[in-house]
Amino acid sequence: MAAKIISGNKIAKQLRKDLKAEVEQLKEEHGVTPGLTVVLVGEDPASKIYVRNKHRACERVGMVSNVVRLPEDSSHEKVMETVQELNDNPDVHGILVQLPTPDQIDDEEIINTIDPAKDVDGFHPVNMGKLLAGQPELVPCTPTGVMYMLDTLDIDLSGKEAVIVGRSNIVGKPQALLLMYRHCTITICHSRTQDLAGHLSRADIIVAATGVPKMITAEMVKPGAVVMDVGINRLDDGTLVGDVDFEAVKEVASAITPVPGGVGPMTIAMLLQNTVRAARKSVSG
Ligand code: GUN
Repeated sequence: MAAKIISGNKIAKQLRKDLKAEVEQLKEEHGVTPGLTVVLVGEDPASKIYVRNKHRACERVGMVSNVVRLPEDSSHEKVMETVQELNDNPDVHGILVQLPTPDQIDDEEIINTIDPAKDVDGFHPVNMGKLLAGQPELVPCTPTGVMYMLDTLDIDLSGKEAVIVGRSNIVGKPQALLLMYRHCTITICHSRTQDLAGHLSRADIIVAATGVPKMITAEMVKPGAVVMDVGINRLDDGTLVGDVDFEAVKEVASAITPVPGGVGPMTIAMLLQNTVRAARKSVSG
């Protein structure tokens, strides 16, 4: 039986509706409009598209959205200063430095400089630490979006085998924690994993975040598994594909996210949600 296609576009649309109402409420009750500022250094074409999509999404829910564009050859100190100014600006509730940045920028130091209360990416060690300690506050957007999509399926996650392919701070590590908190048994696979197919063959839930186009094939997937594809890869002919061979795997899985229109729009919706949360916290303490 062909899999249910989990539409991130559809779920994100409903979420934006709810967030719009929350933004209105914050404006009326506290005179505060949630504001997100994205810092974009350089001209990376994919980053420019992401930033444009984030900007549009903010405006659609009535939030203030600003983009600070810095030239490709900006110094590390210039980016640090920019972040510090945003930390000090009370109208800015969320700060996001678009990654990747040019080579001269030390991403780690930049992330560590963002005020954790404004770190809507959830990448600051304070926010990562809180998640690890079981006291989540601002949690990375993509894994949160994946959890939100899983929850629309109405399946009991407890005791399920979840295999995460990828071990990044942005997706793999926080995704494993979020699934563990929902009582999944978790396995994190990565580029040095010796028997990826063996691990995947036991998975009830697969989260693919490798950056390798179509690397998860139908033969690797247990019939009935739920497959969440975080990858967005542009092929030489311009088409966008995920880390999963969608056409083949959808014949084996019970549910699967498409690319595009799957996890991507949910990441942005969760960014808006984190910004609203940060704005609310700024008024209520
Ligand atoms: N580049 C690609 N995805 C992301 C993300 O979620 N946050 C940031 N800051 N940069 C990204």
